Amino acid sequence: MKRVLICGSNGLLGQRLSMMLSAQTEFEVLNTSMERSFVFDDRLYDYTQLDITRRGDVRSLVSSFQPTVIMNAAAATNVDWCESHRDEAWKINVTGVENLVEASRKVGARLIHVSTDYVFDGRTGPYREDAAPNPLGYYGKTKLASENAIRGAQIPHAIVRTMILYGTGVNVKPSFPLWVISSLRAGQRIRVVDDQYGNPTHVADLAMAMVRIFEQNREGTYHVSGRQLVQRHEFAVRIAELFGLDAGLIDRISTSDLQQPAPRPMQSGFITLKAETELGMRFMDMDQGLRMLKRELQLTQRN
Ligand SMILES: NC(=O)c1ccc[n+]([C@@H]2O[C@H](COP(=O)([O-])OP(=O)(O)OC[C@H]3O[C@@H](n4cnc5c(N)ncnc54)[C@H](OP(=O)(O)O)[C@@H]3O)[C@@H](O)[C@H]2O)c1
Repeated sequence: MKRVLICGSNGLLGQRLSMMLSAQTEFEVLNTSMERSFVFDDRLYDYTQLDITRRGDVRSLVSSFQPTVIMNAAAATNVDWCESHRDEAWKINVTGVENLVEASRKVGARLIHVSTDYVFDGRTGPYREDAAPNPLGYYGKTKLASENAIRGAQIPHAIVRTMILYGTGVNVKPSFPLWVISSLRAGQRIRVVDDQYGNPTHVADLAMAMVRIFEQNREGTYHVSGRQLVQRHEFAVRIAELFGLDAGLIDRISTSDLQQPAPRPMQSGFITLKAETELGMRFMDMDQGLRMLKRELQLTQRN
């Protein structure tokens, strides 16, 4: 039986991977994350606490579980926090990944790792996989360093870059659409930038692409995102329209108005042709992703 080790299984992506893979009887799945307990019922799912920055713990868990594949969804994902907590960000996003690389090599496991459009400077998007990276901020630098650590290690691997990830999950940090929805539902005015471009990505597409990469033994770098390049303010307005909320509460601003600690890639976006062609998928466009989100939220609220 193929054994799958998921790191960061309490996060947005990790939860989705866990649900998808655990539903398939041909896989034995071990979920791991920072916290003592799993967000899902651990009588139904196998879960062990694992901090990927703890080299000895990673080594011993991997050598006892002997995974066929390690799927790494663990990361420090708050880009502004990374800018001001550089040592901690490096430890999680680079040292943690180096620990996974070392452990993968020892047991001959494949590593499927998730990276970001923040490895690019956002001057010439949308980007293909072979575009030259040039991260602007510290988060992007750590993610690029983790990519390089994996590529240089000569282990079987895939690096899946994604961006503007959203979806539902238990106790996850609210993604952009959920922030828009909850703010507008509360009647609050929000300010949204109209000078950033990217492809919003429903987490179901990302998780499915990673499962296909594993099942099809694919290696290399893949850009996995929604198929539509969208300006952020337009995205917010469409969210309001599809959820029956007041788009008049959304004010247009520029990125510079926000004075955020970390710089953002402005003209980002991915060309997803390689991933869609090789994996046999058609990623969701903006409306398809938002409709799926709406159905999932309705289901969560009903239960
Ligand atoms: N979200 C986006 O818009 C986006 C965009 C581009 C790329 N990505 C990439 O996609 C991947 C998944 O992102 P996500 O949105 O699912 O992130 P997320 O919801 O923040 O989940 C990350 C998970 O990793 C855990 N974690 C942090 N440090 C850890 C450690 N040392 N050991 C084990 N687990 C640790 C976190 O636990 P705590 O919550 O307790 O810290 C969290 O449960 C990441 O690689 C991220 O860089 C995300």
